[in-house]
Amino acid sequence: MVRQAVIPVAGWGTRVLPATKSLPKPLLPVADLPTIYYVVEEAVQSGVEHIVFVTSRHMRAVEDFFDENPELTRTLEAKKNTAMLDRLHHIETMAHFSFVRQAQPLGLGHAVLMAREAIGHDAFALLLGDDLMWSPDGVPCLQRMIDVYNQRHASVIATMPVPDADVSRYGIIAGERIGPQLMQVRDMVEKPPLAEAPSNQAVVGRYVLTPEIFDILAHTPPGRGGEIQITDGLCSLLAQQPIFAYEFAGQRYDTGDTVGWLTTSIAYALRRPEFAPGLKAYLRTLDLAE
Ligand code: UTP
Repeated sequence: MVRQAVIPVAGWGTRVLPATKSLPKPLLPVADLPTIYYVVEEAVQSGVEHIVFVTSRHMRAVEDFFDENPELTRTLEAKKNTAMLDRLHHIETMAHFSFVRQAQPLGLGHAVLMAREAIGHDAFALLLGDDLMWSPDGVPCLQRMIDVYNQRHASVIATMPVPDADVSRYGIIAGERIGPQLMQVRDMVEKPPLAEAPSNQAVVGRYVLTPEIFDILAHTPPGRGGEIQITDGLCSLLAQQPIFAYEFAGQRYDTGDTVGWLTTSIAYALRRPEFAPGLKAYLRTLDLAE
């Protein structure tokens, strides 16, 4: 059973500045909802009940988004906007939310370590807020990974094949295939040059981790970029326990840079019946020949 998730959101989001100078990156809108909503929704649809956000002092607005706002409630009640009241109530109650602070952005591995006390001794999901995973069959990527965890009782990381040109931007795994969408991991390398990459299976932003990762991260020194890297922690975990890779076959949207975020917003809005007609009508007027 995996009932808890960690979502680290303490980074600056330098690739989407200046938009993120005062607006936290997780709140950049995708259609009419903040990016982070879709990540939380995936966790909840996969059975997660408790979400631990790792935040920084710039991120108070993320807490506010998932908290009740009595003033706004009163305003919507006065306007008799029950549909929106119901939507907001759903967002505020979809999970139990906790917030822990990472005082300095010392790396993703360090951010995960900050959630240690809130999570305790259970296996947990780790979801990175930049990545939105679209499953055409409606079964969330994380749900499939939890299914693997329930069978194997070992950590599971999500991977997707990437083109050669992109290999050096990702953590890359080496492993052997043991099922149509399943590999047993043998090694992991963070952002290798193409010539040193053991495969083109890139780690994307979903993990199910056994709690032993916390002890390991507590003893992991800063690595690439002077940050405590989750990949280094996973390599140490691999020396102790098996790790499996679930190859996600749906569509991944990376909202972490400006073009990626704009693309995601258009793609998600086009899937919404209330926005699609107007947006399509506008897109059809564009001359995209250049
Ligand atoms: P990124 O490497 O994408 O960093 O972190 P970033 O700050 O979000 O974005 P750029 O590269 O500067 O544009 C991956 C995830 O890990 C979190 C980030 O918030 C993001 O969700 N993170 C990273 C932390 O919470 N703390 C850290 O120290 C580093």
